[in-house]
Parts: sequence; C-alpha cells; structure tokens
Amino acid sequence: MLKNQNENVTKILVSQEEIEQITSRLAAQISKDYENDPRQVVLLIILKGSVPFAADLMRKLTIPVQLEFMKVSSYGASTKSSGEIKIHLDLNRNDLENLDIIIIEDIIDTGRTLNRLTQLLKNRNAHSVKTCTMLDKPSRREVDFTPDYVGVQIPDEFVVGFGLDYNEEYRSLPYVGVLDPKQYAHPNEL
Ligand code: IMP
Ligand code: MG
Repeated sequence: MLKNQNENVTKILVSQEEIEQITSRLAAQISKDYENDPRQVVLLIILKGSVPFAADLMRKLTIPVQLEFMKVSSYGASTKSSGEIKIHLDLNRNDLENLDIIIIEDIIDTGRTLNRLTQLLKNRNAHSVKTCTMLDKPSRREVDFTPDYVGVQIPDEFVVGFGLDYNEEYRSLPYVGVLDPKQYAHPNEL
C-alpha cells in the first residue's frame, strides 16, 4: 500500500485544467453529434480506469444518456499488453439493436481492447458503436484502429492517475502523470 502517490510521479502529463478542457470539448462534440439521434444513447464505461473521465464527461453532456459498464483486462500486473482481453463483467441487455453505444475508455494503447470490444458489440447487433478515449498512445498501436473521440495524444510512457493504475494504485490522483520507471522496473534492470 502506497502512502504518498505523488512522490512516484516524475512529471505531470495532463493537468487537472487540461482534463477539464478535454471533457468540455468532447462533451460538446458528442452532444452535437447525437442531438438528433432518435435512438437511446448509452455510455458504456469500461471499468475501472474510465470512471473519473466518464463521470466528468457525462455531466457536461446536453443529451440524455444511459450508463452501462463492462470490466475487461488486457494488462494484469505487467506494463506490457498481453495481447488478449478477458471479459470480467459483461453487458447484460437484450435491446442492443436499438442502442447507439459510445464506449468510454481511459487510454488506447495497442488498440486491442477497443478493437475487440467494438467487434463484439457489432456482432451482437448494436445499432452503432463509437469509441471515446481520454488518452491515445498512437505510437504503440498493434492493430489498425482509430477511436472516434480522443482527448489528447501522449508519447509512449507509462502513465498513472485520473483512473489509470499501476497494480491498482494511483487511480485517485486528480491528474495524469508519468510513473517513475523505478516503480515497475525489474530489480535486475536497475
Ligand atoms: P490496449 O488494449 O493495448 O489498447 O490497452 C488498453 C488498456 O491498457 C487500458 O484500458 C489500460 O488499462 C491499459 N494501459 C495502457 N497503457 C497504460 C498506461 O500507460 N498506464 C496504465 N494503464 C495503461
Ligand atoms: Mg488498466
């Protein structure tokens, strides 16, 4: 258990003010894109990392939305993607053909999670599926996938805070910062 999370962050990459601007911009864009949508719009919030981002974003939307949650993992206790995703909590609805779904993610890295989830929901006949991510690491992409709404692109560094974790720590930080590599480097590599 960590006592001081801030100490292990070497630099703030996205400040609280920037996150505020990002959620305002994305909420305005999404509200405009869906304002004449005759169907039910659903924010599909991917647990756990997207919770702070989704909470800020949804309160700035001017369109009615419903909330749903899924829990998937691709990382485990490592900072490298395992290349697969595992569904821990699934979406439990039988009206997907009437829904316009916006998947809300904290970060897109290899692209596998959003690619897999989008395919899955389309296979289950969702009327439409779009994706919205707070952070995008385009240099790390391993599958050809472009999210519809992106908060900010970031370089290839392991980041924590504002929902993002390393071994379940740091999620409650109010900003996104770079984790000191000493915190996750193998002892033999130090
Ligand atoms: P992808 O399937 O490789 O695009 O991975 C997306 C998931 O990997 C995110 O939902 C995060 O849980 C995790 N992830 C990717 N990069 C980072 C990072 O820099 N910090 C924390 N988690 C990350
Ligand atoms: Mg995660």
